[in-house]
Parts: sequence; structure tokens; C-alpha cells
Amino acid sequence: MNLHQLQENFESLAAEDPLWTVLSDDAKRGGKWDLEEFYATGRAVIDDLESRLDKLGKPLGGGTAIDFGCGVGRLTFPLSQRFQTCYGIDISRSMVEFASTQKERGPNCTFIENTTTRLHRLENASIDLIYSAIVFQHIAPRYTREYLKEFSRLLKPGGLLVFQLPSHLDPKFPGNQKPFRLFKKRLFYQFKTLKQQITKILPFYRNESFFEMNAIHRERLVSFLEKQCNLEILAVPDFPAAGPAWKSYLYITRKRA
Ligand SMILES: C[S@@+](CC[C@H](N)C(=O)[O-])C[C@H]1O[C@@H](n2cnc3c(N)ncnc32)[C@H](O)[C@@H]1O
Repeated sequence: MNLHQLQENFESLAAEDPLWTVLSDDAKRGGKWDLEEFYATGRAVIDDLESRLDKLGKPLGGGTAIDFGCGVGRLTFPLSQRFQTCYGIDISRSMVEFASTQKERGPNCTFIENTTTRLHRLENASIDLIYSAIVFQHIAPRYTREYLKEFSRLLKPGGLLVFQLPSHLDPKFPGNQKPFRLFKKRLFYQFKTLKQQITKILPFYRNESFFEMNAIHRERLVSFLEKQCNLEILAVPDFPAAGPAWKSYLYITRKRA
């Protein structure tokens, strides 16, 4: 799906149930997330990030951080406790508006709605850390590559880019052994997107927003990060944030001088 369609999807999902759109636990659908329980999950993710970076000798903290695809600020607020300034950036206005209502959780956070692959408001070499989890799996790879190049522009030399992305379908997961599984999934998403576009102009239109899943193979992505984004790979641990059907990784990278 293109960026405009992606924005429409997230906008309508977020307008309906922002917390469930971020953490899509079936039991929490329909406004059933407890707000404090929800935000506590974000603190655990950033604690985990901190301990991973500590082991690599890169303490989490400094001047300015970005939480890309911030949703309602679940990860932005705990990140902001380690940085002087923190930007939460999201394609959905409803998400950014919800996050802004929670600003007492992180007064040094600024939430920005951004609908393109360029982050014009932010200067070259101005950012110490960019973090993104459960976001790029929903973005078509052609855009993900553009965002990654843009992040490279924003990072200070030595700054860190840490993000999660699925690599491929896990062959051990039931059903994934069937031939052309990924290809069929892609066709299915194209069909759903087309159906959405057609039904939008019909009088009996019913909103059927959905989460598209995307992946870039680990070896190809590592080569792209090194060769086209001037990033050094520090570690690529497993990070099963895309559900059990996918092999997903956390890319921990550093901008070269
Ligand atoms: C599953 S939520 C995760 C939110 C947050 N990262 C977290 O873990 O709490 C995915 C978020 O990514 C945002 N998103 C999707 N595509 C985006 C894009 N191209 N640019 C910025 N945000 C995007 C969505 O609007 C949504 O808020």
C-alpha cells in the first residue's frame, strides 16, 4: 500500500481505538486497555533497550531522540526520561493528538504528524538516537529504505539507529512451509487495498482498515544499511515483535563519522 493508503488505514484504526491499534491484543479490543497497564509495557521495552545498549558499551541517553511511529507515545515517554528532548513522529493525526493529551508523562516530548519520507523540520546531524518498534513491518519496503536514508541524514556521527523489522516468514510456523506463502500474502494485501479503494466510492462503504505486514530479508537489509546509509552494524539480535509467524530482528546500528 502506498503512504497515503497507509495513513488512511492507521488514521481510521487510531480514531476508533488508539491503544488497541498500538498493541493489538484481542482481549483488549474495544477500549479495554487499562491506560496505566498500557504505558507500563512501554517502560519495559525501553528498559530492555537500555540493557542491550549497555552490553554494547553504548549507554542510552543524551541530547535528542526520535521515536519513529510513536503512536500514543508508549515508548516516547520512557525514552524522554533519558534524553533532554524527544520527538515522537507518526503518520496518524489521531495518534499524535492522543499522545499530546498525555504530555505530563514526558514534558520534554514534542509530537509531530509526518506523512512523507522526509523529516524536513529536523536538521542534518542533530539526533543522538532514533528508535522504532512495530512500525516498519507495516510500511512497504520501498518507503522503509527512504526513511532509513533520511534517518542517516539526521543522525550525528556516532548516533544510534535502532529499529525492528521482520526478515522473513519463520519456516517452523505452521502453514509457512506451503509454497509461495509470502507471495500469496502480498497478493492478499494488494487485493484488500484495491477493495478498500473501490468500496470507498460506493454508497454502502464499510471501513475495513487492516494492518499490512512487510519484511526485508536480513542480509539484504544489512548490506543496504552499510552501503547506502553509512551505518555500522553493532548487533542484530532476534526480536519477535511481529508475532510468531515471522522471524524479526532488532537492528542496532551506529552512524559512521
Ligand atoms: C503498532 S503502532 C506502534 C506504536 C509505537 N511504536 C509503540 O510501539 O508503542 C504503529 C504506529 O506506526 C505508525 N506509522 C505507520 N506508518 C508510519 C509512517 N510511514 N510514518 C510514521 N508513522 C507510521 C502508525 O500510525 C502507528 O501509530
